[in-house]
Amino acid sequence: MKKTKIAPARGRLGVLIPGFCGAISTTLVGGVEAVKAGESKPIGSLTQMGRIRVGKRTENRNPLIKDFVPLADLGDLVFGGWDIFDENLYQAALKAGVLERMQIEALRDRLSEFRPMKAVFSNKFVRNISGPNVKKGKTKYDLALQLAEDIENFKKKHGLDRAVMIWCASTEVYTKEQDVHSSLAKFEKGMKASHPAISPSMLYVWAALKSGVPFINGAPNLGVAIPAMVELAKKQGLPLAGSDYKTGQTLMKTIIAPGLKSRMLGISGWFSTNILGNRDGEVLDDPASFKTKEVSKLSVLETILKPEIFPDLYKDLYHKVRINYYPPRGDNKEGWDNIDIFGWLGYPMQIKVDFLCRDSILAAPLALDLVLFMDLARRAGLSGIQEWLSFFFKSPIHADEVYPENDLFVQLEKFENNLRYLMGETLITHLGVEYYK
Ligand SMILES: NC(=O)c1ccc[n+]([C@@H]2O[C@H](COP(=O)([O-])OP(=O)(O)OC[C@H]3O[C@@H](n4cnc5c(N)ncnc54)[C@H](O)[C@@H]3O)[C@@H](O)[C@H]2O)c1
Repeated sequence: MKKTKIAPARGRLGVLIPGFCGAISTTLVGGVEAVKAGESKPIGSLTQMGRIRVGKRTENRNPLIKDFVPLADLGDLVFGGWDIFDENLYQAALKAGVLERMQIEALRDRLSEFRPMKAVFSNKFVRNISGPNVKKGKTKYDLALQLAEDIENFKKKHGLDRAVMIWCASTEVYTKEQDVHSSLAKFEKGMKASHPAISPSMLYVWAALKSGVPFINGAPNLGVAIPAMVELAKKQGLPLAGSDYKTGQTLMKTIIAPGLKSRMLGISGWFSTNILGNRDGEVLDDPASFKTKEVSKLSVLETILKPEIFPDLYKDLYHKVRINYYPPRGDNKEGWDNIDIFGWLGYPMQIKVDFLCRDSILAAPLALDLVLFMDLARRAGLSGIQEWLSFFFKSPIHADEVYPENDLFVQLEKFENNLRYLMGETLITHLGVEYYK
């Protein structure tokens, strides 16, 4: 197999983050600083700790992923971003309350250097929070141009020729795809007329792509998935990825559901509820933002279980997802799942899961990996929707003609084979053909 030509990861890589003062962003930036200083380990990160099997099992070749594909080094990342709050990342990390105070104090000097740029924000799209650090502009087009100018200035200031943008800002209210999203020409006309269905997240995507910067969507917002943005990404030769980091409860769901299905066990009901007390929980307390999240969370079981092919097992499955804002827990979410299953002759059984997780501790390594893999994709000349990165998302964006792949194990295989393909290594099918020769 021929190796793909990949430009080297030379120089520094800008990491541009809408939602710079949020829980994920501060945990990511603080975490990378702690890892660089040798104070902590990058647990949960495939790019830093993951290995990949290459060749036959007998060859025993399991290189670190970061040695197998040419990724940017942590020391070459330059962070910057936007937020509606005007506080430095030391103050923001204290407020987010994810990392322990002692760890934040140890990082104080480094975190204090980061300050957010003024955000493009609208209370029509995120209703439960407001802040002073917001841009003004006559039209949405004018606001998007200001973002593009920020990107150019950031690149110049830090001498960067590569950057990636990753959405770590709040989940916007549920928006359905409309005519204004259907092509780039209509979208750009819509921006000039400040069309009400164009959200701030879409303006960030547009500004990133126009500036030659790949975009990753960490929230379930419609943002990247609209035809106008896919068209722009292809035109610019840039990769797009999303949506919504697959962390706590949905990670568990996409681990358990494929296992039950592989044994032909039926599922009659899956009730998921959780309590969450961080700012994300506060935003999701608004039913319109929750609706966006709910659609993203509900979609996973359908595509894994395929009730249309297995009606006896899954056609009557009742799936419900709830998020409850409960401030005392902060970022330490507790998620409960009750799964009603049935086996031989239809006899019922139950599974209970109680996951006491830490939302941003699970999300930060995904954000880091996505940034590094999207930069790799860009240097390898991959453009448009990057389905091989579905592994990291709750609601993977996908081509119109195919369904999204939500099964974590299929996603992992797809992801690893994509890396093998890029490096010209044989794809691994687990067929064991040598035994049939
Ligand atoms: N933590 C997880 O496990 C997880 C998993 C999947 C998805 N997500 C999503 O990731 C996003 C970030 O999560 P978080 O826990 O860091 O949330 P957070 O509320 O702590 O941070 C979001 C930040 O975005 C800022 N913001 C809002 N609108 C903005 C805009 N238009 N421009 C710039 N900044 C803006 C807010 O001021 C806030 O500081 C949320 O949308 C969340 O739903 C989180």
